[in-house]
Amino acid sequence: MNSAQQKAKQLLQLKNNRGISALTAYDYPTARLLDEAGVDLILVGDSLGMVVLGFPDTTQVTLEHMKHHLAAVARGSQNALIIGDLPINSYHSIPQSIWSAKQLVDAGAEAVKLEGGIRQAEKIKAIIEEDIPVIGHLGMLPQRVLEEGGYKKKGKSQHEIEHLQEGAQALVEAGVSGIVLESVLPEVALTLTQTLPVPTIGIGCGKGNCDGEIAVISDVIGSYPWFVPPFATQRAQVATETSRAVSEYLAEVQRDFQGKG
Ligand code: KIV
Repeated sequence: MNSAQQKAKQLLQLKNNRGISALTAYDYPTARLLDEAGVDLILVGDSLGMVVLGFPDTTQVTLEHMKHHLAAVARGSQNALIIGDLPINSYHSIPQSIWSAKQLVDAGAEAVKLEGGIRQAEKIKAIIEEDIPVIGHLGMLPQRVLEEGGYKKKGKSQHEIEHLQEGAQALVEAGVSGIVLESVLPEVALTLTQTLPVPTIGIGCGKGNCDGEIAVISDVIGSYPWFVPPFATQRAQVATETSRAVSEYLAEVQRDFQGKG
C-alpha cells in the first residue's frame, strides 16, 4: 500500500472517531500554513477558477491550471492528504478519467475528487484500480452551474433525496474514501452521514450533519470579498488588511518623494 492509499485508509477510519477538517489551498504558503496547523485534508479545488484565476465559475478550469496549483501545494504540505479536483471536461470517458487522474497524481495529488453519482461510478472504479484514491462529490455540483441555471440547494424533494441516496450508494460501491456533500439540506445530509459507511464532508449542509467540514480558504480568511457564500463564516479579514497595508505603502512612497521633484 503506498502512502496516498495509507492516508486514504486513515481517512476512512476517522468516521465515527473524530471530526475531519478540510480546507482548500492553491499555493505553497497557504498549503504550508494549513499543513502546519494540522488540517486533515487539503483540496486543490477547481474553485481556484473563481477565487484565484478570476473566472465567473469553475467551468473554464483546465487540467493544466490544476496541475500548476497542485505542484505548489504539494511542495508546501507534508502530512495532509492532498486531493486534486478533476476539472470539467477531464473525465468524459473511463480512459480519459484514468489519464487525467494520473496527470494530477504526477503533479502532486494523493487522491482525486470528481463530481457526480451513478454516472461516474465506473470511472471511479477504474481510477481506484490504478491505486489512486477517489473522493466523491454529491449535492450541488458547481461544474453543472450553467445547465442548472445557478447554485441550488439539493434534497428538497423526494426525487432529489432518492437521487442523492442512489448516487451515494453507487460511490460507496465504487470504492470512494469519502464523499463531499455540497449544499444538501441539513436533515438529508445527516441521514446520509448516519447511513453511509464512508465519511461525509460537508459544505453548506449546516453544522454537525457530516463527519467533517470543508471550506474554501478565501471564505475563511476573508481574502475574496467580492463574493462570500451565505453559509461561510469569515474568521479573518485579509482583503481589508491588504487594502489598508497597500494604502499605507502608497502614502509612504508619496511622503518620501516630497521635495525630490
Ligand atoms: O472546488 C472546491 O473548492 C470544492 C469545494 C467547494 C468542496 O469542490
